Amino acid sequence: MQLKDHRGLEVSTRNTRSLERFEKALDLTTSYFVDPLAEINAAIADDPDCAIAHCLRAGLAVMSSERGALPLIDESVAVIEAPATGANDRERRHAAAARAWAQGDFARGKQLYDAIVVDFPRDQLAVQIAHVGDFFLGQSTMLRDRMAQVLPHWDASVPGYGYLLGMQAFGLEETALYERAEDTGRRALELNPRDPWAVHAVAHVMEMQGRLRDGIDWLSSRQADWSIDNGLAYHNWWHLALHHLDLAEYDRVLELYDTRIRPVQTPVALEMLDASAMLWRLTLRGVDVGARWQPLAEAWAPIANEGFYAFNDVHATMALVGSQQWSRVEDVLSSMERAAGESGTNATMTREVGLPLARGIAAFGRGRYAEAVEHITPARAHANRFGGSHAQRDIVHLTLLESAMRAGNAPLARALASERTDVKRTSPFNWRMLGRALEMQGLAQDAAKARETADLRAAAQQPRREKVAA
Ligand SMILES: [Fe+2]
Repeated sequence: MQLKDHRGLEVSTRNTRSLERFEKALDLTTSYFVDPLAEINAAIADDPDCAIAHCLRAGLAVMSSERGALPLIDESVAVIEAPATGANDRERRHAAAARAWAQGDFARGKQLYDAIVVDFPRDQLAVQIAHVGDFFLGQSTMLRDRMAQVLPHWDASVPGYGYLLGMQAFGLEETALYERAEDTGRRALELNPRDPWAVHAVAHVMEMQGRLRDGIDWLSSRQADWSIDNGLAYHNWWHLALHHLDLAEYDRVLELYDTRIRPVQTPVALEMLDASAMLWRLTLRGVDVGARWQPLAEAWAPIANEGFYAFNDVHATMALVGSQQWSRVEDVLSSMERAAGESGTNATMTREVGLPLARGIAAFGRGRYAEAVEHITPARAHANRFGGSHAQRDIVHLTLLESAMRAGNAPLARALASERTDVKRTSPFNWRMLGRALEMQGLAQDAAKARETADLRAAAQQPRREKVAA
């Protein structure tokens, strides 16, 4: 009997139990709740030839952004492509896409997932992998436009519809359509409050708009829906910490780091990324992070020289620089130089963004601030090419700004701080940076005014009175 998945797409397995496990694993994957891999392995145990389960397992490995996950892809691709499996055309196309990704051709791999989505707009797994692929490759417009492609083929009666709205919300946010993004994210959450990606999309809107108190309230009030047994929780905690960081509430940021963002020294790249990014932001602000860099650097060590994905390498570099392990820093830079000379998508990412940025971070750590400015400036304009979100890539701009300040390059520091106050006027931090730059230029009155604005902005974002009373 021909079986179909919950969205009406044909699958080759004849094992209904395995298919149901696939559906559960797919739901866990899209909602980031634990543990889709355990569920998908159970589906494969029920039916070792369940091709769609192998498509999901390969997809999970693709979405991990780690070289260590590649053997899983090879294994699942081999099963899907074995004639005895009897995989259908769509499942075989998943295999081809995952294989291209595993071979380092991320761009081609994503193109193949893109094409599956066009032909099968209800293929939720392909949509999810392509969405994450857009994110890894920094393709903001595709984060948005893919959802415009597929949503006409979905409605609220199709299982998983809310998740698509969550993805659309993120795509709209990354293309600065903030109002629509927030509306769409809230709509997704009306359908399913336990959609951490939709929560995350709205948190991004609030971050980009400098609505610090809104962001804190948003994440705090919905904490029970996104923070328990969820693989994205550390990242949503990171977003909460970003808001506190802007308000210079450093004790709270460090508490969140210790208890939520990095409570355990896991070797998971996506988790280590956020830990590095938060400690680096604190370091740029001159906050003493104590002994936190050391264990993070140790956690990064096994994959720091992989040269697999430049975005990871740059964040590993931060940890090694933060812990002042200079010979290891040189090793990472050498690995990245090698990766830059190879073929594949990561070579381009490394050449154009990753390597100059890592060199800039290393120079900053050694106190060579003018050199850091030299390295980072050319990469800044196209930093999107190495992936991540606008909020994550802000670290590029922040590092350049602090480098310009410490290098005594007052005109550049002022120019960069002015960019920030213009686009995010409610941020106390941005006004403080402008104040510092104006002070450097000897404009004491203007500097005092900027500092006063910073104080006003901070006061405006204090907890609302009725909430305090409550
Ligand atoms: Fe994010």
